[in-house]
Amino acid sequence: ERDFKGYSEGMVRLTPGRWLFPAIFEQYADKYYTFELKPSDVMLVTYPKCGTTWLQEVVWTMRNNPNLDNPKANMPINVRVPFLEMDILLSSRNLPAITPDNPIIQGFKKMCPGRDPKDGIFLQMTELAPSPRTMKTHLPLSLLPQNLLTTSKAVYIARNPKDAVLSFYHHSRILKNHGYTGTFEQFVQYFLDDDFMYGPYWLHLKEALEQRDNPNLHVMLYEDLKQNTLHELKRLNDFLGTELTEDQLKGVAHYTSFPEMKARNALFGEGGEIFLNLGIIEKDGGFFRKGTVGDWKGKYTPELDAKMDEWIKTNLADLDIQFKYGL
Ligand code: A3P
Repeated sequence: ERDFKGYSEGMVRLTPGRWLFPAIFEQYADKYYTFELKPSDVMLVTYPKCGTTWLQEVVWTMRNNPNLDNPKANMPINVRVPFLEMDILLSSRNLPAITPDNPIIQGFKKMCPGRDPKDGIFLQMTELAPSPRTMKTHLPLSLLPQNLLTTSKAVYIARNPKDAVLSFYHHSRILKNHGYTGTFEQFVQYFLDDDFMYGPYWLHLKEALEQRDNPNLHVMLYEDLKQNTLHELKRLNDFLGTELTEDQLKGVAHYTSFPEMKARNALFGEGGEIFLNLGIIEKDGGFFRKGTVGDWKGKYTPELDAKMDEWIKTNLADLDIQFKYGL
Protein backbone atom coordinates (compact mmCIF):
# COMPACT_ATOMS: atom_id res chain seq x y z
CA GLU A 1 0.00 0.00 0.00
CA ARG A 2 2.05 2.92 -1.15
CA ASP A 3 0.57 6.33 -0.24
CA PHE A 4 -0.99 7.18 -3.57
CA LYS A 5 -1.64 3.79 -4.98
CA GLY A 6 -2.77 5.04 -8.33
CA TYR A 7 0.69 6.34 -9.08
CA SER A 8 2.64 3.83 -7.03
CA GLU A 9 4.66 2.51 -9.92
CA GLY A 10 5.26 5.85 -11.39
CA MET A 11 6.31 8.56 -9.00
CA VAL A 12 9.24 10.84 -9.51
CA ARG A 13 11.11 12.78 -6.89
CA LEU A 14 12.45 16.08 -8.11
CA THR A 15 15.54 17.47 -6.52
CA PRO A 16 16.32 19.78 -4.91
CA GLY A 17 13.27 19.86 -2.70
CA ARG A 18 12.15 16.24 -2.64
CA TRP A 19 8.96 17.18 -4.46
CA LEU A 20 7.07 13.99 -5.20
CA PHE A 21 4.90 13.79 -8.29
CA PRO A 22 3.47 11.24 -10.68
CA ALA A 23 6.22 10.44 -13.19
CA ILE A 24 4.43 12.27 -15.98
CA PHE A 25 5.36 15.50 -14.22
CA GLU A 26 8.71 15.36 -16.00
CA GLN A 27 6.95 15.89 -19.31
CA TYR A 28 5.22 18.98 -17.97
CA ALA A 29 7.79 20.54 -15.62
CA ASP A 30 9.19 22.96 -18.22
CA LYS A 31 5.76 23.91 -19.44
CA TYR A 32 4.73 24.89 -15.92
CA TYR A 33 8.02 26.65 -15.27
CA THR A 34 7.68 28.73 -18.43
CA PHE A 35 3.91 29.21 -18.32
CA GLU A 36 3.20 32.64 -19.79
CA LEU A 37 1.74 35.05 -17.27
CA LYS A 38 -0.20 38.28 -17.70
CA PRO A 39 -0.30 41.31 -15.42
CA SER A 40 -4.02 40.73 -14.78
CA ASP A 41 -3.46 37.15 -13.58
CA VAL A 42 -4.04 36.04 -10.03
CA MET A 43 -2.49 32.67 -9.17
CA LEU A 44 -3.78 30.86 -6.09
CA VAL A 45 -0.87 28.85 -4.74
CA THR A 46 -1.63 26.29 -2.05
CA TYR A 47 -0.54 23.03 -0.57
CA PRO A 48 -3.45 20.59 -1.04
CA LYS A 49 -6.25 20.66 1.53
CA CYS A 50 -5.41 24.06 2.97
CA GLY A 51 -8.51 25.85 1.68
CA THR A 52 -7.82 26.04 -2.05
CA THR A 53 -11.40 25.60 -3.20
CA TRP A 54 -12.71 28.10 -0.68
CA LEU A 55 -10.13 30.61 -1.86
CA GLN A 56 -10.96 29.87 -5.50
CA GLU A 57 -14.60 30.73 -4.88
CA VAL A 58 -13.78 33.80 -2.78
CA VAL A 59 -11.31 35.32 -5.24
CA TRP A 60 -13.32 34.51 -8.37
CA THR A 61 -16.46 35.95 -6.81
CA MET A 62 -14.71 39.11 -5.68
CA ARG A 63 -13.19 39.61 -9.11
CA ASN A 64 -16.14 38.58 -11.27
CA ASN A 65 -19.33 38.49 -9.27
CA PRO A 66 -19.35 41.20 -6.59
CA ASN A 67 -23.13 41.56 -6.74
CA LEU A 68 -23.75 37.82 -6.92
CA ASP A 69 -25.68 38.18 -10.16
CA ASN A 70 -23.22 36.83 -12.74
CA PRO A 71 -24.73 33.78 -14.49
CA LYS A 72 -21.20 32.44 -15.10
CA ALA A 73 -21.06 31.69 -11.37
CA ASN A 74 -23.11 28.59 -12.15
CA MET A 75 -20.13 27.05 -13.89
CA PRO A 76 -18.14 24.62 -11.70
CA ILE A 77 -15.35 26.16 -9.65
CA ASN A 78 -12.57 24.28 -11.40
CA VAL A 79 -13.79 25.52 -14.78
CA ARG A 80 -13.88 29.17 -13.68
CA VAL A 81 -10.59 28.88 -11.80
CA PRO A 82 -8.59 26.32 -13.76
CA PHE A 83 -6.11 23.98 -12.12
CA LEU A 84 -2.74 24.44 -13.82
CA GLU A 85 -1.22 20.98 -13.27
CA MET A 86 -4.38 18.87 -13.28
CA ASP A 87 -3.04 16.91 -16.27
CA ILE A 88 -0.56 15.08 -14.07
CA LEU A 89 -3.44 13.61 -12.05
CA LEU A 90 -4.94 12.12 -15.18
CA SER A 91 -1.95 9.79 -15.39
CA SER A 92 -3.27 7.66 -12.54
CA ARG A 93 -3.79 3.98 -13.35
CA ASN A 94 -7.07 4.13 -11.48
CA LEU A 95 -8.76 6.38 -14.02
CA PRO A 96 -10.29 5.25 -17.27
CA ALA A 97 -8.67 6.56 -20.42
CA ILE A 98 -10.23 9.84 -21.45
CA THR A 99 -11.90 9.00 -24.74
CA PRO A 100 -12.82 11.66 -27.33
CA ASP A 101 -16.50 11.47 -26.37
CA ASN A 102 -15.78 12.33 -22.72
CA PRO A 103 -17.35 15.68 -21.73
CA ILE A 104 -13.92 16.83 -20.53
CA ILE A 105 -12.59 16.53 -24.09
CA GLN A 106 -15.73 18.20 -25.42
CA GLY A 107 -15.19 21.12 -23.04
CA PHE A 108 -11.55 21.27 -24.06
CA LYS A 109 -12.43 21.42 -27.75
CA LYS A 110 -14.83 24.28 -27.15
CA MET A 111 -12.36 26.27 -25.08
CA CYS A 112 -9.24 25.46 -27.06
CA PRO A 113 -10.21 25.16 -30.73
CA GLY A 114 -7.46 23.75 -32.90
CA ARG A 115 -5.39 22.60 -29.92
CA ASP A 116 -4.26 19.02 -29.34
CA PRO A 117 -5.33 17.47 -26.01
CA LYS A 118 -2.02 15.59 -25.99
CA ASP A 119 -0.28 18.88 -25.23
CA GLY A 120 -2.16 19.06 -21.92
CA ILE A 121 -5.92 19.39 -21.55
CA PHE A 122 -5.94 21.39 -18.35
CA LEU A 123 -2.71 23.22 -19.07
CA GLN A 124 -4.18 24.63 -22.28
CA MET A 125 -7.55 25.36 -20.70
CA THR A 126 -5.66 27.37 -18.09
CA GLU A 127 -3.66 29.11 -20.77
CA LEU A 128 -6.73 30.04 -22.82
CA ALA A 129 -9.02 30.93 -19.91
CA PRO A 130 -10.57 34.37 -20.43
CA SER A 131 -8.78 37.29 -18.79
CA PRO A 132 -8.62 38.34 -16.09
CA ARG A 133 -7.54 34.80 -15.19
CA THR A 134 -7.76 33.45 -11.67
CA MET A 135 -5.85 30.16 -11.60
CA LYS A 136 -5.08 27.47 -9.08
CA THR A 137 -1.91 25.49 -8.49
CA HIS A 138 -0.48 23.24 -5.81
CA LEU A 139 3.04 23.63 -7.17
CA PRO A 140 5.56 25.26 -4.86
CA LEU A 141 6.88 28.67 -5.91
CA SER A 142 10.21 27.17 -7.02
CA LEU A 143 8.49 25.09 -9.72
CA LEU A 144 6.37 27.98 -11.01
CA PRO A 145 7.46 30.73 -13.42
CA GLN A 146 10.05 32.85 -11.68
CA ASN A 147 8.37 36.06 -12.87
CA LEU A 148 5.14 35.17 -11.06
CA LEU A 149 5.56 37.82 -8.38
CA THR A 150 6.87 40.50 -10.70
CA THR A 151 4.35 40.05 -13.52
CA SER A 152 1.21 38.91 -11.69
CA LYS A 153 -0.27 38.54 -8.23
CA ALA A 154 -0.43 35.40 -6.12
CA VAL A 155 -2.42 34.46 -3.04
CA TYR A 156 -1.13 31.70 -0.75
CA ILE A 157 -3.36 30.07 1.86
CA ALA A 158 -1.92 27.82 4.58
CA ARG A 159 -3.63 25.62 7.16
CA ASN A 160 -2.51 23.91 10.33
CA PRO A 161 -0.92 20.58 9.38
CA LYS A 162 -3.05 18.43 11.69
CA ASP A 163 -6.30 19.43 10.00
CA ALA A 164 -4.69 19.55 6.54
CA VAL A 165 -3.34 15.97 6.75
CA LEU A 166 -6.65 14.64 8.03
CA SER A 167 -8.41 16.38 5.19
CA PHE A 168 -5.85 15.02 2.69
CA TYR A 169 -6.44 11.49 3.98
CA HIS A 170 -10.15 11.82 3.24
CA HIS A 171 -9.42 13.43 -0.12
CA SER A 172 -7.07 10.67 -1.23
CA ARG A 173 -9.73 8.08 -0.44
CA ILE A 174 -12.59 9.80 -2.26
CA LEU A 175 -10.57 10.69 -5.36
CA LYS A 176 -10.08 7.64 -7.53
CA ASN A 177 -6.89 8.94 -9.05
CA HIS A 178 -5.23 8.85 -5.62
CA GLY A 179 -7.04 5.67 -4.57
CA TYR A 180 -5.58 5.46 -1.08
CA THR A 181 -6.65 2.32 0.77
CA GLY A 182 -4.21 2.26 3.69
CA THR A 183 -4.71 3.36 7.27
CA PHE A 184 -4.75 6.91 8.63
CA GLU A 185 -1.67 6.09 10.74
CA GLN A 186 0.29 5.07 7.66
CA PHE A 187 -0.89 8.14 5.82
CA VAL A 188 0.35 10.43 8.58
CA GLN A 189 3.65 8.55 8.61
CA TYR A 190 4.15 9.30 4.90
CA PHE A 191 3.59 12.96 5.72
CA LEU A 192 6.08 12.86 8.60
CA ASP A 193 8.65 11.17 6.35
CA ASP A 194 8.30 13.75 3.55
CA ASP A 195 7.15 10.84 1.41
CA PHE A 196 4.04 12.56 0.29
CA MET A 197 2.52 13.53 -3.02
CA TYR A 198 3.37 17.18 -3.83
CA GLY A 199 6.33 16.98 -1.49
CA PRO A 200 7.08 18.36 1.96
CA TYR A 201 4.51 20.80 3.30
CA TRP A 202 7.10 22.66 5.38
CA LEU A 203 9.19 23.44 2.31
CA HIS A 204 6.16 24.53 0.28
CA LEU A 205 5.26 26.86 3.12
CA LYS A 206 8.83 28.06 3.61
CA GLU A 207 9.15 29.10 -0.01
CA ALA A 208 6.01 31.19 0.25
CA LEU A 209 6.88 32.74 3.60
CA GLU A 210 10.27 33.78 2.26
CA GLN A 211 8.39 35.97 -0.21
CA ARG A 212 5.99 37.32 2.35
CA ASP A 213 7.19 40.90 1.99
CA ASN A 214 6.75 40.84 -1.74
CA PRO A 215 3.84 43.23 -2.46
CA ASN A 216 2.51 40.85 -5.11
CA LEU A 217 2.11 37.94 -2.70
CA HIS A 218 -0.69 37.80 -0.17
CA VAL A 219 -0.39 35.12 2.51
CA MET A 220 -3.50 33.98 4.37
CA LEU A 221 -4.37 31.35 6.95
CA TYR A 222 -7.40 29.07 6.73
CA GLU A 223 -8.00 29.51 10.45
CA ASP A 224 -8.10 33.33 10.14
CA LEU A 225 -10.41 33.16 7.16
CA LYS A 226 -12.71 30.95 9.19
CA GLN A 227 -12.58 33.01 12.37
CA ASN A 228 -12.50 36.52 10.94
CA THR A 229 -13.96 36.14 7.49
CA LEU A 230 -14.94 39.75 6.84
CA HIS A 231 -11.62 41.12 8.05
CA GLU A 232 -9.75 38.68 5.79
CA LEU A 233 -11.95 39.57 2.83
CA LYS A 234 -11.18 43.25 3.40
CA ARG A 235 -7.44 42.52 3.32
CA LEU A 236 -7.93 40.52 0.14
CA ASN A 237 -9.99 43.36 -1.34
CA ASP A 238 -7.07 45.74 -0.75
CA PHE A 239 -4.58 43.30 -2.19
CA LEU A 240 -6.60 42.48 -5.30
CA GLY A 241 -7.73 46.06 -5.81
CA THR A 242 -11.28 44.84 -6.30
CA GLU A 243 -12.89 47.79 -4.45
CA LEU A 244 -15.92 45.94 -3.12
CA THR A 245 -18.06 47.75 -0.55
CA GLU A 246 -18.55 46.35 2.93
CA ASP A 247 -22.01 45.14 1.95
CA GLN A 248 -20.64 43.39 -1.11
CA LEU A 249 -17.95 41.73 1.00
CA LYS A 250 -20.59 40.53 3.45
CA GLY A 251 -22.48 39.06 0.51
CA VAL A 252 -19.34 37.28 -0.70
CA ALA A 253 -18.64 35.96 2.80
CA HIS A 254 -22.08 34.40 2.97
CA TYR A 255 -22.02 33.09 -0.60
CA THR A 256 -18.67 31.38 -0.01
CA SER A 257 -19.42 30.05 3.46
CA PHE A 258 -19.07 26.32 4.01
CA PRO A 259 -22.81 25.46 4.06
CA GLU A 260 -23.45 27.48 0.90
CA MET A 261 -20.57 25.92 -1.01
CA LYS A 262 -21.45 22.46 0.24
CA ALA A 263 -25.04 22.93 -0.93
CA ARG A 264 -23.88 24.04 -4.40
CA ASN A 265 -21.21 21.29 -4.52
CA ALA A 266 -20.11 22.55 -7.94
CA LEU A 267 -16.51 21.48 -8.13
CA PHE A 268 -15.88 19.71 -11.41
CA GLY A 269 -17.45 20.11 -14.79
CA GLU A 270 -19.33 17.42 -16.62
CA GLY A 271 -17.25 14.27 -16.82
CA GLY A 272 -15.65 15.01 -13.46
CA GLU A 273 -17.47 12.07 -11.87
CA ILE A 274 -14.78 9.76 -13.28
CA PHE A 275 -12.58 11.01 -10.43
CA LEU A 276 -14.99 10.20 -7.62
CA ASN A 277 -15.11 7.08 -5.53
CA LEU A 278 -18.83 7.16 -4.85
CA GLY A 279 -18.81 4.19 -2.45
CA ILE A 280 -16.47 6.00 -0.05
CA ILE A 281 -18.28 9.30 -0.49
CA GLU A 282 -21.51 7.64 0.55
CA LYS A 283 -19.84 6.29 3.67
CA ASP A 284 -17.49 9.10 4.69
CA GLY A 285 -19.00 12.18 3.04
CA GLY A 286 -17.95 14.17 0.02
CA PHE A 287 -15.36 16.82 -0.77
CA PHE A 288 -17.03 19.43 1.47
CA ARG A 289 -16.42 17.35 4.56
CA LYS A 290 -16.31 19.44 7.76
CA GLY A 291 -14.82 22.83 6.96
CA THR A 292 -13.77 23.50 10.55
CA VAL A 293 -10.67 24.17 12.62
CA GLY A 294 -9.73 21.42 15.07
CA ASP A 295 -11.48 18.43 13.56
CA TRP A 296 -8.16 16.61 14.00
CA LYS A 297 -8.82 16.36 17.74
CA GLY A 298 -9.57 12.77 18.65
CA LYS A 299 -8.62 11.52 15.18
CA TYR A 300 -4.90 11.03 15.93
CA THR A 301 -3.82 8.48 18.52
CA PRO A 302 -1.78 10.10 21.32
CA GLU A 303 1.42 8.58 19.80
CA LEU A 304 0.63 9.92 16.35
CA ASP A 305 -0.28 13.30 17.76
CA ALA A 306 3.03 13.43 19.62
CA LYS A 307 4.84 12.67 16.36
CA MET A 308 2.97 15.49 14.64
CA ASP A 309 3.93 17.86 17.46
CA GLU A 310 7.54 16.85 17.01
CA TRP A 311 7.31 17.38 13.25
CA ILE A 312 5.81 20.82 13.84
CA LYS A 313 8.55 21.71 16.32
CA THR A 314 11.30 20.57 13.98
CA ASN A 315 9.98 21.85 10.69
CA LEU A 316 8.02 24.97 11.46
CA ALA A 317 10.17 26.45 14.22
CA ASP A 318 12.19 28.73 11.92
CA LEU A 319 9.19 29.78 9.89
CA ASP A 320 7.46 33.00 10.74
CA ILE A 321 4.05 31.39 11.21
CA GLN A 322 1.81 30.50 14.13
CA PHE A 323 -1.01 28.11 13.35
CA LYS A 324 -4.17 27.82 15.37
CA TYR A 325 -5.17 24.23 16.11
CA GLY A 326 -8.60 25.11 17.44
CA LEU A 327 -10.79 28.22 17.61
P1 A3P B 1 -12.08 19.36 5.58
O1 A3P B 1 -11.73 18.08 4.91
O2 A3P B 1 -11.33 19.57 6.87
O3 A3P B 1 -13.54 19.57 5.74
P2 A3P B 1 -8.80 22.17 -0.55
O4 A3P B 1 -9.85 22.97 -1.25
O5 A3P B 1 -7.48 22.85 -0.46
O6 A3P B 1 -8.74 20.80 -1.12
O7 A3P B 1 -9.26 22.05 0.96
C1 A3P B 1 -10.39 21.32 1.28
C2 A3P B 1 -10.78 21.60 2.71
O8 A3P B 1 -11.39 22.91 2.78
C3 A3P B 1 -11.82 20.62 3.22
O9 A3P B 1 -11.57 20.55 4.62
C4 A3P B 1 -13.10 21.35 2.88
O10 A3P B 1 -14.22 20.90 3.60
C5 A3P B 1 -12.72 22.77 3.28
N1 A3P B 1 -13.59 23.79 2.68
C6 A3P B 1 -14.08 23.85 1.43
N2 A3P B 1 -14.86 24.93 1.28
C7 A3P B 1 -14.87 25.56 2.47
C8 A3P B 1 -15.52 26.74 2.96
N3 A3P B 1 -16.32 27.46 2.19
N4 A3P B 1 -15.31 27.08 4.26
C9 A3P B 1 -14.51 26.34 5.06
N5 A3P B 1 -13.87 25.23 4.66
C10 A3P B 1 -14.05 24.84 3.38
